[in-house]
Amino acid sequence: MNILLTGASGFIGHNLVAELTAAGHRIKPVCRSEGIDFSRMLSAADWLPQLEGVDAVINSVGIIGESGSQRFEPLHTLAPSALFRACAQAGVRRVLQISALGADKAAFSAYHLSKRAADDCLRSLDLDWFVLRPSLIYGLGGKSADLFMRLAALPRIPVIDNGQQELQPVHISDVVATVMQGLTSPKTMQTLDIVGTEIITFAEWLQTMRQALGLPRARLIPIPFRVAMAIAQVGRYFNPMLQPENLRMLKTGYRADFRPLVQFLGRPPLTTKPSLFFSEGVPTRGAS
Ligand SMILES: NC(=O)c1ccc[n+]([C@@H]2O[C@H](COP(=O)([O-])OP(=O)(O)OC[C@H]3O[C@@H](n4cnc5c(N)ncnc54)[C@H](OP(=O)(O)O)[C@@H]3O)[C@@H](O)[C@H]2O)c1
Repeated sequence: MNILLTGASGFIGHNLVAELTAAGHRIKPVCRSEGIDFSRMLSAADWLPQLEGVDAVINSVGIIGESGSQRFEPLHTLAPSALFRACAQAGVRRVLQISALGADKAAFSAYHLSKRAADDCLRSLDLDWFVLRPSLIYGLGGKSADLFMRLAALPRIPVIDNGQQELQPVHISDVVATVMQGLTSPKTMQTLDIVGTEIITFAEWLQTMRQALGLPRARLIPIPFRVAMAIAQVGRYFNPMLQPENLRMLKTGYRADFRPLVQFLGRPPLTTKPSLFFSEGVPTRGAS
């Protein structure tokens, strides 16, 4: 297939490029280094020339926090919605949208709401669509995985309140496998949560990362939520991930039923083990 892949240079994107190429697909990459900025691709007409000869589209552009000209509404909602409408006009029927766990009816953050708006647009179109909602993804090269790994490596681990916020992490190779399946699955028009089988607290997740780094368990430094929010007000200027709203999302915790994913993949997602923290999507192909 000829596949237009947005976000091709990102964590998910570059793992997809490797797997799609290995499977014999041809990729048309979209990202700013390829000369296409989402903030300037806001109408279907902007996208139509890019769709010539394209058989399927995967959208994997996203930001975790706003900075400068990188804003949620154009990047998460307006450009993807324009791309999806262009697909409908051009007859590119198979469209996969990488959304995020929590972009549902209960969403409250600008991150989730802007994702959900694009998901809703895609779901309203007569296309062979998939809305894929990964939870926290781990594996080599992920920005959030990297930030958490750096936190985990500290001699004492700072956590919000008691660190009992729930996560349901999923390995990058399971995200890649789900996308690959979505490209050919005949059962389309599905919204699928891509989550691991294990629910783990934030504190335990960081301890697991320490184990992967070969470090002993560390003592926790509980930081009251309101203090963490005050720190994030300043921290966001140094790292867009340190947005107060991201702390609110972490505090909320997101989990989902993993059984629909098991059914879709025909196997359970990978069980966390230390080596997986340092592996990408492709080297674990076929692992279980
Ligand atoms: N990683 C996770 O744990 C996780 C979990 C759930 C959902 N997701 C979602 O999955 C998607 C991809 O995540 P990721 O971890 O791969 O993110 P990432 O590593 O930060 O990659 C983001 C991609 O978006 C592209 N991009 C950013 N701004 C752009 C712009 N203005 N115009 C065109 N392209 C732009 C980047 O390319 P350039 O910077 O080169 O332009 C890059 O290829 C996002 O929508 C994210 O919300 C990720």
